[in-house]
Amino acid sequence: MTGGLRLGVNIDHVATVRNARGAGYPDPVRAALLAAEAGADGITAHLREDRRHITDDDIARLSAELPVPLNLEMAATDEMLAVALRHRPHAACIVPEKREERTTEGGLDAAGQFDHLAPMVAILGRAGVRVSLFIEPAAEQVDAARRLGAPVVELHTGRYCHLDGAARSDELRRIVDAAALAAKNGIESHAGHGLTFDNVAAIAAIPQLAELNIGHFLIGEAIFDGLGAVVARMRALMDMAR
Ligand code: PXP
Repeated sequence: MTGGLRLGVNIDHVATVRNARGAGYPDPVRAALLAAEAGADGITAHLREDRRHITDDDIARLSAELPVPLNLEMAATDEMLAVALRHRPHAACIVPEKREERTTEGGLDAAGQFDHLAPMVAILGRAGVRVSLFIEPAAEQVDAARRLGAPVVELHTGRYCHLDGAARSDELRRIVDAAALAAKNGIESHAGHGLTFDNVAAIAAIPQLAELNIGHFLIGEAIFDGLGAVVARMRALMDMAR
């Protein structure tokens, strides 16, 4: 890690390609090892309820083989809590999950789901798993994370990435403000969703952010340049923004 900003590489979509043919390749664990070698500080994987990409076996192998920390993205369900307690990843990022969505479309309503999330955050914390909540960059969500005792929030950058012009600047301001508010409350901030070579600099420059989690773009771009080169370039762009 350099510049104080970690890069977590999300390898879900290596598994998407594998599962498209039901074959044993490409192997997401091999991709994770390569990403780590190329400068990723951690690996992120989302075990979805419908197992559309990452499988239980992938999580078991990642837990056993990774030389860098594993960040397990999980819905707030009893099934996923059991998986997290079985493998005890370095970190667990609680995300909202809707079966019919193509990707994680919005942030977790940490304020609205307070009573459901409170025991989960506490159990994971007691098990030594660093809990993060994937939230919209909004003061009420940061405040709910504080009340829940979550040590980390991951700020959803999806809207920022999809907007342009003044609307994008407004959304960037919300992310900047949310990261500052989190820091004021002793919460570490991460960010992710939709980040690319073209839009990462403004996010990477936010001084309170400690980690970016990036997946879909990197795996797609790897088709053209190779995963090692693409991870190394993202790492360099993040460092240059600091
Ligand atoms: N962070 C979280 C919490 C996510 O759910 C995802 C998508 O799985 C990402 C980061 C990575 O987003 P993308 O694949 O668009 O880079």
